[in-house]
Amino acid sequence: MFRNLCFRVQSIALLGAFGLSAALAAQTPGSLKDAYKGDFLVGAALDAAQIEGKDARADAIVLAQFNTISPANALKWARVHPKPGKYRFKLADRYVAFGREHHMFVVGHNLVWHNQVPGWVFRDDKGQLLTRDALLQRLKEHIQTVVGRYKGQIQSWDVVNEALDEDGSLRQSLWLKIIGPDYIEKAFEYAHEADPQAQLTYNDYNLEKPAKREGAIRLVKKLQAEGIPIASVGLQNHDSLTWPSAAEEDATIKAFAALGVKVVVSELDVNVLPNANQQPTADVSLRVGRNKALNPYRKGLPDSVQQQLARRYADLFRVFLANRATVARVTFWDVTDGDSWLNNWPVKGRTNYPLLFDRQGKPKPAYDAVLAAADRKP
Ligand code: XIL
Repeated sequence: MFRNLCFRVQSIALLGAFGLSAALAAQTPGSLKDAYKGDFLVGAALDAAQIEGKDARADAIVLAQFNTISPANALKWARVHPKPGKYRFKLADRYVAFGREHHMFVVGHNLVWHNQVPGWVFRDDKGQLLTRDALLQRLKEHIQTVVGRYKGQIQSWDVVNEALDEDGSLRQSLWLKIIGPDYIEKAFEYAHEADPQAQLTYNDYNLEKPAKREGAIRLVKKLQAEGIPIASVGLQNHDSLTWPSAAEEDATIKAFAALGVKVVVSELDVNVLPNANQQPTADVSLRVGRNKALNPYRKGLPDSVQQQLARRYADLFRVFLANRATVARVTFWDVTDGDSWLNNWPVKGRTNYPLLFDRQGKPKPAYDAVLAAADRKP
């Protein structure tokens, strides 16, 4: 009854903001954020159109369903700091304003990564690789500027993204080659100095794989031993219908819980198309050529796969719920199936169905399954 009432009030508010069709699209019984209230936050990554209010259908879903947002691209180095000394904050400012206006938990993604970072960052004006000190200086300036600008407004930062290789060793990025392994500690220190209240996260994919997970555990322990304030580990969870298993997910969350850090499920989606790569990966630089066999559901998702996706999401959320003392947030990577990066990665132009809302913005059976999973609180 109470839920219904809230829902109606919200619908009326949405009607004013976005018009009838958008409000209808967001009309689903209950909501993800209410279903998991007291357990963890539930969120979505927003693209530029959604941040700028040009996608009323998706925005209505975001307001009705989620209480935390992440920026799909708006805060990456290449977007926010494209040239030396030149910052472009217009989109990032709108992103943060959107979150504040709607009282959402606002996530910053990300400060240090080997992708979507311009080549100039690592070179001097003669094109030579920078010295350790010069690159540290640049990193510090970037972090101070970006984190400082949103101090008290972005509650959680993905400080370092994807620093580990699959075997658990540190990835041979230019950050590592030029600065050395302590670039990670330095980035956390700079972020903490710029906003001591912000929750700082190490974020990566495939931490369900034992060797990589061990690497992350070593990293977290090292940071903790040095007194670096790491609040959480982000599990990206770019999943498939079969990997990781519920048991692997559960063991991974528990391994980080044992270290005393929180876990955030930072980029959840479930690929339903044939794997284009032998091993699970979320490496954005991977490119696989087009091939009809890799794009079997152009005209629609067969009901059997739709149901499989629903069961898969229910299984995952049961694991998150069972670990609710550790899991602080679950964020979907994008809002509707049509927005998903998985339509263009690692194969361009596929038709994927990885999220809870379809291309019309309607909730899928997977949405109902996730809501139903919340009723089975352990
Ligand atoms: C993706 C975005 O969704 C795409 O729009 C962009 O083209 C590439 O990056 N891991 C991450 C995210 O940490 O930043 C990536 O986001 C997906 C994989």
